[in-house]
Amino acid sequence: MDQKLQNQVAIITGANSGIGAGVSAAVAAAGSTVVINYPFPALQPAAEAVLKNITSQGGNGIVYCCDVSKEEEVQQMFAAVVRQFGTVDILVNNAGIQEDAPFEEMTLDQWNAVLGINLTGQFLCAREAIREFLRRGIDPAKSKAAGKIICISSVHEVIPWAGHANYASSKGGIMMLMKSMAQEFAPKKIRINSICPGAIQTPINKAAWDTPEALQSLLTLIPYQRIGEPDDIGKAAVWLASDDSDYVTGASLFVDGGMTLYPGFSTNG
Ligand code: BGC
Repeated sequence: MDQKLQNQVAIITGANSGIGAGVSAAVAAAGSTVVINYPFPALQPAAEAVLKNITSQGGNGIVYCCDVSKEEEVQQMFAAVVRQFGTVDILVNNAGIQEDAPFEEMTLDQWNAVLGINLTGQFLCAREAIREFLRRGIDPAKSKAAGKIICISSVHEVIPWAGHANYASSKGGIMMLMKSMAQEFAPKKIRINSICPGAIQTPINKAAWDTPEALQSLLTLIPYQRIGEPDDIGKAAVWLASDDSDYVTGASLFVDGGMTLYPGFSTNG
C-alpha cells in the first residue's frame, strides 16, 4: 500500500457518493484517516458503506453528518475531528449539488441552495481548516506543508453552462476563492488547489450517461473518448495532498479527458 499520506487526517465533504466516495477511498489507501462527511441523516447508510469498503481494505476512518452550508455545523465537525484525532491535515472540499433550471425560471431557492453548498460550504470548511492549520503549524514528520486544501471545482469554472447558471457561478466562484486563499496562505506553507473534473460517472450526471444515446452524445465533448471515473479524481487528490506536489499551490488541475480543449474546433473553425 502506498503510504504518502501516512498518519494524516483528511476531511472529505459530501463523501457518501460519487467523487467524494472515490476520493475517500484513494486518500485512505494512501494512509490517511478519513472523515467521510455526509449532509443529512438519511444518507448515513451510504456513508457507512463507503467506510466499510475502506476498512475492509485496511483503511481507517469515521462517518460524520454535517450540512456544509451551516456555519455552526461546520465548526462542530472540525471541533469533533480535532478532539478525536488531534488535528486535521487535509480538507477535500467536495460537497456539491446541481439544481438546474432555465435561467428565466430559476427560483431564488434553487440559486441559494447551490451557492450555499457549493461555494459558501467551501468557504466555511476552508476557514475552519485554515484556523486549525495555523494553530498546529508544520509537523515535519507528516508533511512539508502546514496543511492542504483541495477544492473540487469543475470544468464549469471556465466553461459557461446554459441552464445551469447557479452551478457554473458557484464553480467560477470556487476558482477565485481557491486562488485568493492560496495567495494569502502560501507564506504560512498552506497549499490550496482545485481539481476541475469533467464528466465523471456519478449520480449527479446520470442522465448524461445512462443510455447509449446519451453517452454517445456526451463523448462528442470528450476528446479522450471515455467518461471519467471517481478514481481518476482520487488519484489527482492524493497527489495534490502529498508532498509530491509540494511546489504546487493556487492551481486548477483539469482532470477532464480534454473537455476544456474546445473539441468542437477539431473539425471546424
Ligand atoms: C457536472 C456534471 C457534468 C460535468 C461536465 C460537472 O461539474 O456536475 O453534471 O457532466 O461537469 O459537463
